[in-house]
Amino acid sequence: MMSPLRGIGSQSLQPRRHEAADEPDAPPADWRAGLPVIAGERVTLRELQFSDAPTLYAEFTTPEARRFMWAPPPNVVAFERFIEWTHRERADGKYICYGVVPEGKREAWGIFELRQLQPGFVRGELGFIMASSLWGTGAFIESAHLLLDFAFDTVNVHRVEARASVDNDRSNAALKKLGARQEGTLKEAFWRDDHFVDQYLWAVLDTDWRTANGRGQTKASA
Ligand SMILES: CC(C)(COP(=O)(O)OP(=O)(O)OC[C@H]1O[C@@H](n2cnc3c(N)ncnc32)[C@H](O)[C@@H]1OP(=O)(O)O)[C@@H](O)C(=O)NCCC(=O)NCCS
Repeated sequence: MMSPLRGIGSQSLQPRRHEAADEPDAPPADWRAGLPVIAGERVTLRELQFSDAPTLYAEFTTPEARRFMWAPPPNVVAFERFIEWTHRERADGKYICYGVVPEGKREAWGIFELRQLQPGFVRGELGFIMASSLWGTGAFIESAHLLLDFAFDTVNVHRVEARASVDNDRSNAALKKLGARQEGTLKEAFWRDDHFVDQYLWAVLDTDWRTANGRGQTKASA
């Protein structure tokens, strides 16, 4: 999180399905002008705001939150710059960053990000972090469902990938619970402190997501 994610190769997956998004004249999808608010039962996903910075700094710089992540911004002002950067990247159509606002709160206590890995958002890489007070409360799984519905139905992503260090038991269990498929092990893919660690590669296809969640193949237009 909070650092450019790298693509892991280019594949031509169902190019016709996304060709409109690849054409220079294609109109920008609405989400590029501003992410829609997505309300769930216990959480609301919305774009990050500067007023989230103090909470994000306090919650995401704890040792338990940052153990498996890239180094977070080092102070509140740096978080504000990060939030500004998420808006710019979203406007460019390359990146989506939702804040998770739990019921009864005003600030974001979690972040879900989706980075474009292939033009037209054919593939996207998912990242997530929740304040530790929300772990085990169901906020993650509800937020993840809202985000993936948005990714597949509105952004038109075909394949969502995620990486998690092999010793990140909570994250790997959470991805499995979400229905992601563990596709393999990426050797020495993450640098932590003073050594490399292996990561698992997980993926969810739009077709599998709809089948698993009892929905047809119809999509909202992007
Ligand atoms: C990853 C994260 C967002 C998941 O949120 P969460 O609220 O902890 O997730 P959940 O509780 O819904 O799911 C975690 C699952 O792991 C299981 N789990 C917890 N500790 C575990 C362990 N040591 N071994 C195996 N499974 C474990 C839980 O039982 C739960 O499964 P269940 O709901 O079937 O019981 C959150 O833990 C987090 O922010 N971690 C720090 C940042 C991070 O690692 N981000 C991901 C980087 S890839």
